[in-house]
Amino acid sequence: MHIVHIAVEMAPIAKVGGLGDVVTSLSRAVQDLGHNVEIILPKYDCINFDHVQDLQLQRSFEWGRTEIKVWLGKVEGLPVYFLEPQNGMFWVGCVYGRGNDGDRFGFFCHAALEFLLQSGSCPDILHCHDWSSAPVAWLFKEHYMHYGLSNAKVIFTIHNLEFGIHQISKAVSSADKATTVSQTYSREVSGNPAIAPHLYKFHGIVNGIDLDIWDPYSDNFIPVPYTSENVEEGKKAAKIALQQKLGLRVADYPLIGIITRLTVQKGIHLIKHAISRTLERNGQVVLLGSAPDPRIQNDFVNLKNHLHSSHADRARLCLTYDEPLSHLIYAGADFILVPSIFEPCGLTQLIAMRYGSIPVVRRTGGLYDTVFDVDNDKERAQAAGVEPNGFNFEGADAAGVDYALNRALSTWYDARDWFNSLCKRVMEQDWSWNRPALDYMELYHSARKN
Ligand code: ADP
Ligand code: GLC
Repeated sequence: MHIVHIAVEMAPIAKVGGLGDVVTSLSRAVQDLGHNVEIILPKYDCINFDHVQDLQLQRSFEWGRTEIKVWLGKVEGLPVYFLEPQNGMFWVGCVYGRGNDGDRFGFFCHAALEFLLQSGSCPDILHCHDWSSAPVAWLFKEHYMHYGLSNAKVIFTIHNLEFGIHQISKAVSSADKATTVSQTYSREVSGNPAIAPHLYKFHGIVNGIDLDIWDPYSDNFIPVPYTSENVEEGKKAAKIALQQKLGLRVADYPLIGIITRLTVQKGIHLIKHAISRTLERNGQVVLLGSAPDPRIQNDFVNLKNHLHSSHADRARLCLTYDEPLSHLIYAGADFILVPSIFEPCGLTQLIAMRYGSIPVVRRTGGLYDTVFDVDNDKERAQAAGVEPNGFNFEGADAAGVDYALNRALSTWYDARDWFNSLCKRVMEQDWSWNRPALDYMELYHSARKN
């Protein structure tokens, strides 16, 4: 099958959050199943082209009175077409945040379809993502399906319903199939007016992670390669390296890691509470995160200043985006905390498990579908065919966080052998794309049968 993703993020070259991870890793998984997968992406000036192999100018065409250069290169083994409008709309130093994102991405979607049409491409599936490439769905329905691209079916995936509801609404109604990134989130949003009328074509498929990209055995950013066989040794070395790198006291503390965009979605008040609770219980905390909203960023700068003087040996807030540091935190932490208010899927809890770190999460969306509480979810885990693998909580207040965090820390302090065996077990669980890629293939096939 010939599948073309039209997207505005792609890891590692243009990643802002999980959308970038999913575009790359889902594509690789489907390519590994033997299909022809291509990606169309804007050619941002902020892309690090060291990660792009064999980049060549393919052609150029004119659309909307603008010359658009088309470059072809390989990223993580995937063919990627980079569209570069010569009016400079993607030469602004970032992916999002220029106020006219809607116009820029609308133009990009139109140009992507025009490029496919003009180059005589004949994809079976056009897969678009979130509000930013949602226009593909309705432009196709209104225009391009009547021309040379008539063979294609359109799949629209919602990674986050929070942004661009107007575009999402139009795309869900135009697409042949719409999906979101976990079953629980699909149920949580099923009453939304953008989705409710279209439930018959709406599916929840949980994300996976790319086991080659997230692999503690071949990870260049951690000191000792490890598998579940030597997880204790590997994680101990990573914890020491992390403590040294950040200037924390090097000692055997329970270490809570938090890796996140700092937005209301991610449960900011719960994150703050968890930090102080962990410090009260003599743990260490490392937060890696950045806030798109300057007020939230400021708030965390103040917290950082306060904690770095009151708890210099046990708390570090790194208020930036740092891919290598994220790897060291996944490996060096004992727990990864994800107290999101809502979470369509969430990848950090899955990456955490791959590195033998235990997730502590709020029971919502994809977090609910992937993290099974060691005390309370035995039956639910059994039904899902996995062993309990973490700690979770309900509610959105301090008492909720405490309920999960206290049990997590007590396990670390009082039942260390059992805790170590849990780390080993979660590392062996399969949160890859193996299963979800097959679910997407089934969806693609069923779209083609319509
Ligand atoms: P979302 O897409 O809502 O931000 P996900 O959990 O789906 O949340 O994906 C987040 C991705 O971004 C993960 O790969 C995570 O490791 C990464 N990430 C988030 N914040 C940072 C940061 N400050 N530095 C490095 N990586 C980060
Ligand atoms: C969104 C969601 C996150 C999800 C990611 C990838 O950013 O917030 O839950 O994991 O997309 O699908």
